[in-house]
Amino acid sequence: MKRALVTGGCGFIGSHLARRLLDDGWAVDLVDDFSRGARDADLRALLERKEVRLVERDLREPGALDGLGPHELVFHLAAILGVANVEERPYETLRDNTALLVSVLEWARAQSTPPRVVFTSTSEVYAGSLEEGLLTVPTAEGAPIVVPPRERPRTSYMLSKLYGEALCLSSGVPVTVVRPHNFYGPRMGMSHVIPELLGRAYATPDGGSLEVYSVEHRRTFCFIDDAVELVLRAALAPEGEGRVLNAGAQEPEWTIGEVAEIVCRAVGKQLEIVALPPTAGSPERRAPDIGEIRALTGYTPAVGLEDGVRRTYDWYRHNVFSSDDVSLSPLGSPRAER
Ligand SMILES: NC(=O)c1ccc[n+]([C@@H]2O[C@H](COP(=O)([O-])OP(=O)(O)OC[C@H]3O[C@@H](n4cnc5c(N)ncnc54)[C@H](O)[C@@H]3O)[C@@H](O)[C@H]2O)c1
Repeated sequence: MKRALVTGGCGFIGSHLARRLLDDGWAVDLVDDFSRGARDADLRALLERKEVRLVERDLREPGALDGLGPHELVFHLAAILGVANVEERPYETLRDNTALLVSVLEWARAQSTPPRVVFTSTSEVYAGSLEEGLLTVPTAEGAPIVVPPRERPRTSYMLSKLYGEALCLSSGVPVTVVRPHNFYGPRMGMSHVIPELLGRAYATPDGGSLEVYSVEHRRTFCFIDDAVELVLRAALAPEGEGRVLNAGAQEPEWTIGEVAEIVCRAVGKQLEIVALPPTAGSPERRAPDIGEIRALTGYTPAVGLEDGVRRTYDWYRHNVFSSDDVSLSPLGSPRAER
């Protein structure tokens, strides 16, 4: 049986990826220290599968991956992320995100046939150039990268990922780097525009109002099932080796105001959307050019936002908003980026 290893495998992307790998007949090792991943019902169901092995380890510890045996495929997802974590701990973000990746790459390099390693970078590598007005949108992978001022709260995260990309590409290990853009869906925590709006709409009485920041700003969104499909196909494609690829949806672009309307429909409430000023540092428009990953994988994201938000809401309503499952507190782990 083919064996895959997923670091950060109990988090948002990792758990969905693991389910998809199992469907394809893989055995999966999930490495996680539960610094963020929730021990919820979905994870418990995943761990009941006999092809799944939970390796509860802190990847910062020396030899954390020793003794796990060979793997054909590795997804390195573990990282310090989440707005609050990154803003409060810039030094740890730089140090640990690098250390985690180095431990995976060194372990892979030590194998007689190193596995393909997929590294999740971030759409935030484009943040500085977007701010400087140097980018066209949709943005392709070859766009110029500008490093934002170090004092900015999220520069440490962006730098850790950019340096990580370079480490991967110089390591001699067969790697694929993906830059995720606005993945959303069940188990993503609460610190993202979609679950955050869903949570507030759920808590607001019908006929009430919903305050929304940056209503005119435009984004694309990629439902997690589509995201996993793109990432997995890129990982398995021989020509995916050595590539840096945007992953996400290129279109349609939605204003945050339109997203709020979709959220209200999903929740089944008529709420007045009250426009608040744009959030500081939030770009007016962000969308990836996914031409490269689409050509490589033959796949285009297919789940529409209306459908994806409804599926996300169904999960949050059952598992978070009306749940007393303590393993989910604090209300979903803080998550990635907006
Ligand atoms: N979700 C997105 O849209 C998005 C966007 C850009 C980048 N990414 C990147 O994708 C990856 C996965 O993101 P996610 O949204 O699934 O995050 P997540 O926080 O849900 O999952 C990360 C997992 O890594 C684990 N982890 C952290 N430090 C660890 C350590 N020292 N040892 C072992 N495990 C550790 C956490 O416990 C958590 O379960 C991250 O690298 C993130 O930077 C995600």
